[in-house]
Amino acid sequence: MGFSVSASTSANSRIMRTKRRTGRPAARLGHATRLLPAADAPKITRAAAADGAELDAILAIVPDSPSKSLFEQLPESERWQGLNARSKPRSGTVRTTVLANRRQTFAVLGYIGAEASTFERLALAGRMLKEVSSRCPGAIGLIALGDEAAAQGSLDALLAAALASAFQMPAFRSREHEDTALERLVLLDGAKVDIPYASAAARGNNLVRWLTALPPNMLDTPAYHATIAKLAKAHKLGFEWLDEQSLRRAGANAFLAVSAANVRRDAGIAHLTYRPRGNKAISPDIALVGKGILFDTGGVNVKTHRSMLDMHIDMSGSAVALATLLALVELQAPLAVDAWLAVTENQIGPNAYRPQEVVRAANGVTIQVIHTDAEGRMVLADTLALAGKTQPRFMIDFATLTGAAVYSLTERMSGVLTNRPKLAAKLVEAGRTSGERVWNFPFDADYDTDLESKVADILQCSVDGKGDQILATRFLSRFVPENVAWAHVDLASATRTGGLAHINTDITGFGVRYALELILKHDILADAGRRK
Ligand code: BES
Ligand code: ZN
Ligand code: ZN
Repeated sequence: MGFSVSASTSANSRIMRTKRRTGRPAARLGHATRLLPAADAPKITRAAAADGAELDAILAIVPDSPSKSLFEQLPESERWQGLNARSKPRSGTVRTTVLANRRQTFAVLGYIGAEASTFERLALAGRMLKEVSSRCPGAIGLIALGDEAAAQGSLDALLAAALASAFQMPAFRSREHEDTALERLVLLDGAKVDIPYASAAARGNNLVRWLTALPPNMLDTPAYHATIAKLAKAHKLGFEWLDEQSLRRAGANAFLAVSAANVRRDAGIAHLTYRPRGNKAISPDIALVGKGILFDTGGVNVKTHRSMLDMHIDMSGSAVALATLLALVELQAPLAVDAWLAVTENQIGPNAYRPQEVVRAANGVTIQVIHTDAEGRMVLADTLALAGKTQPRFMIDFATLTGAAVYSLTERMSGVLTNRPKLAAKLVEAGRTSGERVWNFPFDADYDTDLESKVADILQCSVDGKGDQILATRFLSRFVPENVAWAHVDLASATRTGGLAHINTDITGFGVRYALELILKHDILADAGRRK
């Protein structure tokens, strides 16, 4: 089963009807919007390499010092050998030619060094897909040759890049573009790859990119609420929406401070639960938490033009948590998993929260507000407190939380911080092996002196903003129960001009590949330990 429940269904049109009636900004588009991507991913098959003439393109990755005999595994091997002989190969480079068959199959040859990282393999694969995508191929062959382990990594990279490239991002042009869709991906013999895993990870990445790219008048709070509910239903997950009223009862005033400026009382925290067959656990093994700010104006401390422009992406952390959960369901992971998504806008208006307000969060901790643009830590404070009450064995949150993370890392990597120092090595290693790289920032307790408040338990942020990615995490840790192992991912790489690694769109969908690797391949639970 995929994530996509058929798009543009009656539920969506129901949303659009209410939109028109209530004059929500979504009405400005004037017709029903698809809130979920189409289900049609390319079919993945296997075939012998000799069958190249059936393909519009063949993408082959070889070592950067390939033996001549390697090319014998490719159709029209002399052609590939000629291409190889053009000049001395260099790792990470791509060259192309056309085969002599009737279809004039486009041949793309990529070189990679034996020691190359997953990131470098993904980046090469992304470059190779860029070469073919303008030709709109219907069927692409993928092959990786050379040392078995390296070739497996390269084929996995090609498959990830191809599934990302085949995905149609949301577009609202009045005249549809007539690009033919990629229908078939053919894995030509050679290295093996775990197709179900690769497909689930790619579908997750695509869903994050889709939701993150949706304009803020389409993915507004009710639309996101309905979309999450629909996905939960399609995947037979438990679903609960904690609306403002129940959040008030829970004392979640940090979240409510941010949502107060919304025109409608529609903000809330979505709680989804997945329990594998026979598992009735109340406490989950894993809690995935995400920041879902549908538009971040900055609030009363309003952002400037350039800083505000792309702030519809400020919900991507919640999309990562959601899509990771769905991928785990698709792979029937034997784990009890919850997701908690904090959904609201950060708006300006007469009811907006202000600097110097003091608010009490759901776990009783009082916060002195300093800057209304630090809304992410406010909504996450309550979301982490509520999720923490369920005593997960491991909790991880994803959030486009600080500009400081972007300043220190650029958009190439994201930041990771944890309240369990012994988890740090594994958290970073999962970034290295997945190719979605993360860098560990300090989490030392002495940073707390920068958040001392004269009137409340803690300052929301410091006044000068130095090392804000660290202080923000120290702040969040006050809302995570001491006995819960927790990691926070500051998604500096949610967007990057020109894309990142195998992803050729500015919105990268960074996070799902990382989280799946961490949970399924590095067994983060083993190091998180038992509940105390
Ligand atoms: N959503 C932003 C952080 C952000 C900015 C993420 C750019 C990705 C790209 C967050 O809500 C924010 O505005 N943070 C402030 C915090 C500050 C006021 C302490 C920031 O980083 O400037
Ligand atoms: Zn902000
Ligand atoms: Zn924000």
